[in-house]
Amino acid sequence: MSDMKLVGLCGSLRAESSNRKLMFEAARLFAPDAFTELDLRFPLFDEDSQNADGIPAAVQQAADQIAGADAVLVVTPEYNKGISGVLKNALDWISRTEGTPWQDKPVALLSAAAGRAGGERAQNMARLCLTPFRPRLVAGPEMMLAQSRSQFGDDGRLIDARGQGLLQSLMEELRTEVGRMRD
Ligand SMILES: Cc1cc2nc3c(=O)[nH]c(=O)nc-3n(C[C@H](O)[C@H](O)[C@H](O)COP(=O)(O)O)c2cc1C
Repeated sequence: MSDMKLVGLCGSLRAESSNRKLMFEAARLFAPDAFTELDLRFPLFDEDSQNADGIPAAVQQAADQIAGADAVLVVTPEYNKGISGVLKNALDWISRTEGTPWQDKPVALLSAAAGRAGGERAQNMARLCLTPFRPRLVAGPEMMLAQSRSQFGDDGRLIDARGQGLLQSLMEELRTEVGRMRD
């Protein structure tokens, strides 16, 4: 498949975020022609501010990038058993844009967390939060990276071979979904 565009949303803004490392590892394995991380530093959603000032340029840009992508990675940390406010805020803002950027979009969900469950609850919550937008959410294999801060080498690569294999399978599923949408 040619001209494959992949974009990623990372729910952690931390510079050394393990979720971002996981996102870039997934992008490497997906091997798109172009990968773009969306900037989710949006203002807090406030319907009054939308009514007064419209959609912020950064939100519109993110929605356009999703609409123009062949596939999307949504990567979430687990904050108090749920997704981060950053990610929920981004999803809420993007839902206010014209059009349906997520509709039928192949999406893979990933999570990385310090706990032993690898952010399972956050990933399940992210799945629920995405459902209203009707993307093509890849069902599995589920990639939940536990004890995530110690899982990457200095080169940013995932150390564990099993994790690499799982991620590879998930990215293959995502590619298959893109192929279905292009047929
Ligand atoms: C506010 C907050 C709440 C957290 N809650 C959880 C949690 O419920 N489960 C968990 O496994 N880790 C939790 N953690 C730890 C995160 O998994 C850890 O900070 C992880 O590295 C965050 O992802 P990042 O590396 O991409 O920033 C929490 C961290 C913060 C800052």
